Amino acid sequence: MQIAVVQMQPQYGNIHANVNRVCELLSRADAAVVVFPELALSGYFFTDREQLRNVALELNSPALQMIEQVATAQRKVAIVGFPEQAGERIYNSAVLYDGCGGSYIYRKTHLFYRERLVFDEGDTGFFVIAIDWLDVRIGMMICYDWRFPEAARTLALQGADVIVCPSNLVTHVWRMAMPVRALENKVYVAVANRIGKETQGEETLEFNGHSAIYGYNGTLLAELPSDTEGIAVASIEPALTRSKSFNQFNDIFADRRPWAYRLSGGAS
Ligand code: ACM
Repeated sequence: MQIAVVQMQPQYGNIHANVNRVCELLSRADAAVVVFPELALSGYFFTDREQLRNVALELNSPALQMIEQVATAQRKVAIVGFPEQAGERIYNSAVLYDGCGGSYIYRKTHLFYRERLVFDEGDTGFFVIAIDWLDVRIGMMICYDWRFPEAARTLALQGADVIVCPSNLVTHVWRMAMPVRALENKVYVAVANRIGKETQGEETLEFNGHSAIYGYNGTLLAELPSDTEGIAVASIEPALTRSKSFNQFNDIFADRRPWAYRLSGGAS
């Protein structure tokens, strides 16, 4: 099957324009699974919660329904980042439309930088969605979640074949780590990053593109440049991730020794 990552520059605060663009790119992407960036419908750099509230969307909003309709009409799985309004709370979320009318929401667990001023911390945890019609199991994480190997590991232990990572990355170190997340878990990793700049007051954030799809041994299968919009597509075989053995003695899951690990230190 084919998977695509879409690299784009959302228009800051312009939901209408961004939804139309996402629908157009979703239609154009020649792949069964199409991953869009973090906060693709709103832009990223919000420092005022009331301003963010103006662009936050409920899951059943017409804007999101438009994207779901395209996904269902084209029978594609679409993963799109957006600011989610849920009662009084606002999450940095990604929705997955499964192409058959089903939807799933992941709310970013690890908030990055000034996101902490405006978003609520995600409460969904990490979970895996089985897309039966494609025989693929997808886990979602969002951008800065990559810094926590526990996130990708949790998804892999729950049976993910592919980890999708809608992103708005502003550093470069992720390009060393993402292939390692793939290799250490033997899963595909698809990172959809954005491009462009956003300014608040004196501060400008620059998003660095390089959206990429990594194979389950960490190889680069497809990549986009740092500064142009585009769609990168790769062929993947999800079932090949399911045996974690790599020689007759070793299996990266069977060889784990949870008794020796102490993962509950630090914050709760
Ligand atoms: C990030 O989490 N947007 C870097």
